[in-house]
Amino acid sequence: MLKKKHFRYRDIDALRAEIDELGLSIRLEEKIGKLLEPVQIGHKTADNRFGIHPMEGCDGTLDGKPSELTIRRWERFGQGGAKLIWGEATAILDEAKANSRQLIINGNTASSIESMLNLTRDAHRKVFGSNEEVIVGMQLTHSGRYSYRKPLIAFRHPVVDKTTLIDKKKKIPIPDDYPVVSDDYLERMEDIYVDSAKLAWKMGFDFVDLKQCHTYLLSELLTAKTREGKYGGSFENRTRFIRNIIGKIRAEIGDELILATRLNVYDGVAYMEDPETTVGIPRNHPTPYPYGFGVDENNPPEPDMMEPIKLIGMLKEIGIKLVNVSMGSPYFNPHIGRPFERPPIDGYETPEHPLIGVERHIRLTGEIQRAYPELPVVGTGYSWLQRFIVNAGEANIEDGRVSIVAVGRGALAYPDYAKDTMETGEMIRKKVCVAVSYCTALMRAKANPLGQFPTGCVPRDKIYAPIYKDAEKTLVKRKT
Ligand SMILES: Cc1cc2nc3c(=O)[nH]c(=O)nc-3n(C[C@H](O)[C@H](O)[C@H](O)COP(=O)(O)O)c2cc1C
Ligand code: SF4
Repeated sequence: MLKKKHFRYRDIDALRAEIDELGLSIRLEEKIGKLLEPVQIGHKTADNRFGIHPMEGCDGTLDGKPSELTIRRWERFGQGGAKLIWGEATAILDEAKANSRQLIINGNTASSIESMLNLTRDAHRKVFGSNEEVIVGMQLTHSGRYSYRKPLIAFRHPVVDKTTLIDKKKKIPIPDDYPVVSDDYLERMEDIYVDSAKLAWKMGFDFVDLKQCHTYLLSELLTAKTREGKYGGSFENRTRFIRNIIGKIRAEIGDELILATRLNVYDGVAYMEDPETTVGIPRNHPTPYPYGFGVDENNPPEPDMMEPIKLIGMLKEIGIKLVNVSMGSPYFNPHIGRPFERPPIDGYETPEHPLIGVERHIRLTGEIQRAYPELPVVGTGYSWLQRFIVNAGEANIEDGRVSIVAVGRGALAYPDYAKDTMETGEMIRKKVCVAVSYCTALMRAKANPLGQFPTGCVPRDKIYAPIYKDAEKTLVKRKT
């Protein structure tokens, strides 16, 4: 079957026409100005409002240090001109990694990560003359349910448990008596988060991100309504972990280290491929549905921003200075987090026009930003817009719907998108991400001696073409 191509706009007016036809609230501004203005983040200033999202390359050494490829990516981000560089997922422990080649933060890896940070800042200074106004952070993660050695789950999820595998090769899901992580385990993790944040601060990172997105451990805890004990049930209990670590980090370090969080404001429900059409369809789920953060319990495909707005207000009160809004799960509903043109080989075709996904990001992020106009809020989900990212971003800043516009895939493809926009007022068509998911496919490719292929942009960055060729042979279509 010939798949429909969604992105086919000759110019900005053609995109506007489709936005209108779909009845979406995305505005595009032609003249770039607001994006070039500085923004205050904690006690620091970023000199423009372009950002780069955390984008891991799954290319660390097995003991969690950066490799040449990792350093190359960070340096390219440094040279790119975005003044907010949100460092990639870095696990607080080996067992917390999402893949065998994720970075880890500990005494053994600290000096190599620190020199990568310094190289990134140097790379920025060489191009822009100064590195004072570029803000770089480390994302601290525990992969929870998606930890690479075994699932470490916060609560039993009647839908997602069926696809949470205890044996990935034989595709065996966790059994009915599989335990959730204990309160003692979570208490231990709190201390490791605090130690990791202290280490990141000593290395010279401007901020740490206490990651609560994409259905990893801290994201799951926000949703753990059915969990028993002090980390589950009430809003107070579900936010205990994040409140505790913020309190402890601030008590030990003070406010020199900026505290940030990338969080899901909407988990959505789980999807699968329709075997006949190959398009994504929601898996059967119960209603009421107490299993998703920011999800309307009585109408689960729909967002409900009540708790996310309450949570962000509370986090702001206790010391979070920067929020990066994200949504969805890369594992069970990838079209929500990253609207795509084509899925990876083992994924489903998009069940909605990708512009609808882009608008969901813009709209829900706008609700957060308007609730807290003084808080620097970073927006996600822009890459599918290709060269019009900056036009939507400019309008959103102007309309008070976001403070910083960051790109994920867009930065793998086009790390200097900010530099070009600063110089010419627009992005260059031939350099943009075309959202065809080769980078995601590479993330899924595990069959090599290190247990993981490195990932990057196959169409735009020539060193990844041969890597993809190698990996492709090992990739198989998923059976849902
Ligand atoms: C290859 C790849 C690596 C990613 N790594 C991370 C990561 O380390 N941490 C994170 O929070 N999100 C990660 N993401 C998600 C992106 O940061 C981003 O949220 C997503 O791609 C949607 O934004 P975009 O439309 O600009 O790409 C990754 C996504 C891809 C495709
Ligand atoms: S492989 Fe490149 S073009 Fe394709 S989605 Fe990833 S970043 Fe975009």
